[in-house]
Amino acid sequence: MLPCRSRGLLRVVITLFTSPLFGALTSATSLVNVTVDDTFGNSEENLQITYQPDGSWSQGVDCTNCEAHLDTTKVHSGTWHDTTYFSDNPPSSPLSASLTFNGVAIYVYCIVTRASTDPFGNSDMTFYLDGNQVGTFVQPPNGDPTYQYSVPVYVNEAIPSGKHTFTLVNGRAGEQTALALLDYIVFS
Ligand SMILES: *[C@@H]1O[C@H](CO)[C@@H](O)[C@H](O)[C@H]1NC(C)=O
Repeated sequence: MLPCRSRGLLRVVITLFTSPLFGALTSATSLVNVTVDDTFGNSEENLQITYQPDGSWSQGVDCTNCEAHLDTTKVHSGTWHDTTYFSDNPPSSPLSASLTFNGVAIYVYCIVTRASTDPFGNSDMTFYLDGNQVGTFVQPPNGDPTYQYSVPVYVNEAIPSGKHTFTLVNGRAGEQTALALLDYIVFS
């Protein structure tokens, strides 16, 4: 038999663990990260990144006319998507990659270079959440031809719970030619 005071404490502990408040606290801390590959998507969640307009993004590995040749051991699943915004021949509609997901945080990973030529390593991406502009990643070339892998070009850890559509747009009207190399997206 436990002393009376211990039983009282035990009851408090049990009440705490079974209370809705405790349930809310544990579900808030048990976030799971889901990775969506640029090419393979996420098969468990049946998710894919969609690219617009048709034919404007290439599979980096297979691309014969792309100038970015990457170390496939350093990219997620050995794949990436490549697109270039040409300032002298801008596309009639935005070069976009979109993902619809159910979550509270998103992390977008690209491969980035600051090469001056072959490829012209100008990064100029704009990010949208549910149609609203929420960020940019702008980094001009500086002559460094190396590639940086898994660069988090957009991170948002304060998204209201629920279903959302994220969109990356490469290049901006009136600005320089811009390269985007999308590797994968993680959401929580
Ligand atoms: C999810 O991944 C991000 C970026 O890698 C990390 O900062 C975060 O802590 C992870 N969250 C969980 C719940 O594992």
